[in-house]
Amino acid sequence: MNHKSLLLAACLSLTFAPPAFAQTVTGSGVVPATAANSAERAIGFAANAPASGALVIVMTDATLPLLDGVAFSAPERQAVAAAIAAATFDGKAGSTLSLRGIGAHSRILLVGTGATPTSLALAEAGGKAAQELKSEAQPVVIAGAFGDTSAADVAYGFALGQYRFDRYKTVDKKAPPTGAVTLVGADPAAAEAAFTSRWKPLADGVRLSRDLANEPANVIYPESFVAEVRKAFTGVAGVSIEVLDEAAMRRLNMGNIVGVGQGSPRGSRMMLVRYRGSGAPAAPLALVGKGITFDTGGISIKPSANMGNMKGDMSGAASVMGAALSLAKSRAPVHVVAVAALAENMPDGNAMRPADVIRTMSGKTVEIVSTDAEGRLVLADANEYVAQAYKPRAIVNIATLTGAIVGALSDQYAGLFSRDEALAAKLLAAGTASGEELWRMPLHKNFFDRLKSDVADIRNGGSDGPGASTGAHFIGFFVDDAMPWAHLDIAGVNRSEKTNPLTPKGMTGFGVRLLDQLARSGE
Ligand code: BES
Ligand code: MN
Ligand code: ZN
Repeated sequence: MNHKSLLLAACLSLTFAPPAFAQTVTGSGVVPATAANSAERAIGFAANAPASGALVIVMTDATLPLLDGVAFSAPERQAVAAAIAAATFDGKAGSTLSLRGIGAHSRILLVGTGATPTSLALAEAGGKAAQELKSEAQPVVIAGAFGDTSAADVAYGFALGQYRFDRYKTVDKKAPPTGAVTLVGADPAAAEAAFTSRWKPLADGVRLSRDLANEPANVIYPESFVAEVRKAFTGVAGVSIEVLDEAAMRRLNMGNIVGVGQGSPRGSRMMLVRYRGSGAPAAPLALVGKGITFDTGGISIKPSANMGNMKGDMSGAASVMGAALSLAKSRAPVHVVAVAALAENMPDGNAMRPADVIRTMSGKTVEIVSTDAEGRLVLADANEYVAQAYKPRAIVNIATLTGAIVGALSDQYAGLFSRDEALAAKLLAAGTASGEELWRMPLHKNFFDRLKSDVADIRNGGSDGPGASTGAHFIGFFVDDAMPWAHLDIAGVNRSEKTNPLTPKGMTGFGVRLLDQLARSGE
């Protein structure tokens, strides 16, 4: 890469420069050199398409639609129709058909949405197109029988689907796509306005969340998480940021988060990003995310197989920041405070032990049964602080909290726990609308008995039993009954083993789209 393209790549994507002092602070070896992820295709809108390049046609069924702005000759149309018939392409959601050698197009890609596509189905078609054309050297044109702002929905999906995290690859690096993607439709101005006002900020928020979670723990630890999020919010209006360092958290008696982080040389932090749009209510919606930048389990150490996935144990924190970024960049008329409870859970001579008793900010005491049940601890302190300092109207937690939720819901749903019916209903609706779906899980009062301690007010884990519910109960124990509160367990959905149209393999940024939707829906 020459200097010019390096500079271009650096400008086009979010960069995470490891701080110069990282080596001495982390003691974890040489930090990977600064590099940018491959440039993404720029997204634009136009009334007319060039005759060459790659052409994507969004299809609702097997019939080639009339395409505004695409010069398609009669023989070309006939060739495509013949190919559709030969391949029995039906235009159902998720279907694709790739054609070459027709007209001047380097390639024609048909992508199905099914009849009467929803906004989400259109986005998924866009994501599919981005992935199919990942290594296409040519510029890309996407056309369809788009009404109003459908092209913006497709563009949004394209933005989510084209994400890659390849900044540390130096050999055998796949060539980045070259050229822009242009959405062609009858009303490009309306589509572009919808995209820039809503979907682009949301895609930026998702990208922030994915980048933070994909970064290894020698790059993203509490202090550098704060620095990167600050960078992302630079110049964004209506935002104020508060950061508590370890000394401040000690003064506030946050025994939980200080305790969890005390086995690590990388100091814990609590980061609060408040965004208040014009006309928004005085009391914010608090979005509180678990931010364990690496979870070894601590003294209750995890088995080594797949432990590396625990670099993503700060996905909840990353997603609340992504949602706040989307809301602020789009100037949504909402009031939110995003809270990241950041610590690294390491085994060490100074680490917490099983049977230790710690005191939380609320004054309540906790018996540590397992140092691996650390997420609930940091969330208890974060919830207490935000409740006192920001007087929110509701609190939503989001956390990679338990392995048990993965067994129950796999990668299909995040678990929703709530004592508040109205808040639960709003969250379920936001899940359906955003495509980040939730499944309600029980908080039966009898499950709470498993958290009874002989020596303290509560213990941080039960032996066996409904682990996802007891985890939720633990957090709920520290939240005032009068406070509308919900907890989302995203341990099964924050990472994807395979590439889906809107979530390429790797960290998904789950929660950004959901919480953005929740805030906009008036919660
Ligand atoms: N971060 C883990 C939960 C997790 C597991 C996330 C698998 C993603 C995939 C959490 O801190 C944890 O270790 N939970 C324990 C709780 C137990 C000790 C009560 C668990 O689920 O085993
Ligand atoms: Mn753990
Ligand atoms: Zn954890």
